[in-house]
Amino acid sequence: LTIAILLAAGVGARFSSESPKQLFEYKGKPLLAYSLETLCQMTQIEKVVLVVDPETEGKLSEMEILQLHTHKVHIVRGGRTRTDSMLIGIKFALSAEKQIKSRFLVHDSARPFVSKEHFIKILSQKETDQAYVTSSRIYDAYALQKSTGEIRNITEGELVVFQTPILLTREIAEKVSTELSLELRSGLAGLLIDLGFKPALIESDGTTGKITVKKDLNSW
Ligand code: CTP
Ligand code: MG
Repeated sequence: LTIAILLAAGVGARFSSESPKQLFEYKGKPLLAYSLETLCQMTQIEKVVLVVDPETEGKLSEMEILQLHTHKVHIVRGGRTRTDSMLIGIKFALSAEKQIKSRFLVHDSARPFVSKEHFIKILSQKETDQAYVTSSRIYDAYALQKSTGEIRNITEGELVVFQTPILLTREIAEKVSTELSLELRSGLAGLLIDLGFKPALIESDGTTGKITVKKDLNSW
């Protein structure tokens, strides 16, 4: 059983629109509706915990996809930071889904265009005690060694960025939810590494990019 936690409680300060980024209308629907639709339509996902801010919550009744899946989607109010919202979502999901074998899929609504294929790829991983993190390799970059000023060419994809979706087992989700005090060095993936869980990396198919500023929409 898989329960998705969809984060949509940010203000989108860098996106600079009137309303939160997730409500921005793009090709006829709000950005939030894209990932919500994908997750709702997937039979591999039983429940969606949708984490929202008050303004986004107020607009949900206008979203058709929610009316079609009222029983699948659970709405909770997020917190001040992404970490706060994620922990609220994970805790709610843990209490809503008690089965020992349940799995928890954390995703950012700011990554609206993730393909069904990528979700299926991460969900079809078989190790039942393993966390899986979407990652994207970086090629042709330069790393600057601050202390020496030395510049090193990174060509072979040995640098990765962590993205979402991220898949957690129940045991790992429980551990994450009790490690609130840990500083999140690099988001959830960084926390998993700090906790010693050695997440496996699932290479992105190129659809997992984040919309941070308006021009990010130009590449879709
Ligand atoms: N998020 C959240 N709760 C917060 C902050 C962020 O649920 N308090 C979510 C956002 O809605 C987004 C995801 O976390 O889907 C990734 O965050 P980011 O791209 O930084 O979005 P914002 O925080 O909204 O944007 P900004 O940092 O520019 O304000
Ligand atoms: Mg943010």
